[in-house]
Amino acid sequence: KSRIIVDCDPGVDDAIALLLAFASPGEIEIVGITTVNGNVSLPLTTRNALRITAMAGRQDIPVYPGCSRPIILPGHPREPSVHGLDGLGDLGVADATHEAERQHAVDFIIDTVLREPGQITLCPIGPMTNIALALIKEPSIAGKIKAIVLMGGAVFSPGNTATDAEFNIWIDPHAAQVVLSSDIPITMFGLDVTRHATLTQERFERLERGSSPIMKTAIAMMRYYGSGDASLHDPCVTAFLIDPTLFKGVDAAIEVDCDPAGTYGRTRATPIENGAGKDRPTCHVITEVDDERLFQLIDQRLRLL
Ligand code: BDR
Ligand code: CA
Repeated sequence: KSRIIVDCDPGVDDAIALLLAFASPGEIEIVGITTVNGNVSLPLTTRNALRITAMAGRQDIPVYPGCSRPIILPGHPREPSVHGLDGLGDLGVADATHEAERQHAVDFIIDTVLREPGQITLCPIGPMTNIALALIKEPSIAGKIKAIVLMGGAVFSPGNTATDAEFNIWIDPHAAQVVLSSDIPITMFGLDVTRHATLTQERFERLERGSSPIMKTAIAMMRYYGSGDASLHDPCVTAFLIDPTLFKGVDAAIEVDCDPAGTYGRTRATPIENGAGKDRPTCHVITEVDDERLFQLIDQRLRLL
């Protein structure tokens, strides 16, 4: 069973990733949710993390607000048509009555990893500002993090924010470079795989056969998110912890382009099998998904909530 910290910027697909984890207590235990500036501003991602936990009756999972901006360069103006002005599709999801913790996300990550060395898996599904700052503030945590399973990047395929850049990396490429150059075992779900994890119209219709209030909200959010087919980017991360056999990947050394005059936010790979890159930390880059089985997992699990 994975004990995880979900570092997120909800965000419609972040919300689905969290719901999938809540519905999978046999495989996943969330010790805390940390929030970051990303799809919407930090106050809104924090509000949304609280709203999602409240919606699922999981007020027992603490929410820690993190960084309010990228490390070096301000992010681009967000496109409200993607996740809505409120970040959850402007559907009027009820506000939580409980509050976020007072401790900062960066300190929560450090304290938790130090308290349970080798036990905690970090799951960043937004820009990686909090994770990078935790590694900078307390470098000794690097050897004590069990693994990082992240959503971000586009190694072998085009980006979705700039020509070559995926959103989470593009917002804070410097943070991503700090994380990806660490020695921590990393599994990376970039657009290479997540754009094949889609909710097609036919799958939306299958989801609609389950009609709990939570399922209805999840469907409405995803319909807002994907005007045509909707990509299940972030849920791939929590699905991997439930059933890693859904995915296949390759090992590579990854570097992030941080030059604003270049392909800013691009994730470049040096395949390990070429012999090059052997001296650099490696990352398991996921490239394939059994998308039908992934869909079935999400469909079955969300019905349990
Ligand atoms: C990523 O960007 C965000 O919009 C999604 O929540 C996901 O984490 C996909 O590029
Ligand atoms: Ca996200």
